[in-house]
Amino acid sequence: SGKRLRVLVDMDGVLADFEGGFLKKYRARYPDEPYITLEDRRGFWVSTQYGRLRSDLCEKAISIWESKDFFIELQPLPGGVEAVKEMAKMDNTDVFICTSPIKHYKHCPYEKVILTRDKTLISGDILIDDKPDILGVEAEPTWEHILFTACHNKHLSVSPAQRRLLSWSDDWRAMLDSKRQ
Ligand code: TMP
Repeated sequence: SGKRLRVLVDMDGVLADFEGGFLKKYRARYPDEPYITLEDRRGFWVSTQYGRLRSDLCEKAISIWESKDFFIELQPLPGGVEAVKEMAKMDNTDVFICTSPIKHYKHCPYEKVILTRDKTLISGDILIDDKPDILGVEAEPTWEHILFTACHNKHLSVSPAQRRLLSWSDDWRAMLDSKRQ
């Protein structure tokens, strides 16, 4: 057995259905306002795309995830929780959920979570995340970013070097194994 493998797993859009939860609550709160279907989502920032639709919709979108219970009520994405539990039981494997908090938050959703606005500072072997560009003060993060496919990034042509996890049904075990030594 060699060195331990450290896996960092993003929460919103990877383990929790941020996009679905957002759209449902946005439509319930603003039934007469236009909205963007998941099919038409482009770009990581929901607020940016809503702001382009109509400038005042940016702050209406933000009001949804700043509301109490937004994050706690997000539904899990299929297979994610099971995958993380399985990873956590694997030999020589440490798994952390690594997520960026919004600026207005009161409680951490649950334990064993790394909350950071800058994921480049966190060391790990793999970071599974749906955000295409993960930048920060560290120019050469230790992890390989595996892009988790989401409605907003599935049309992006990423560099051939960038690996994707299409869903939790995809072969995440092989991706972990490829990083073990
Ligand atoms: P993540 O990079 O760890 O997935 O975290 C993204 C954070 O950004 C999450 O707390 C929700 C927040 N967020 C916004 O502030 N605006 C947005 O448009 C979106 C999509 C997310």
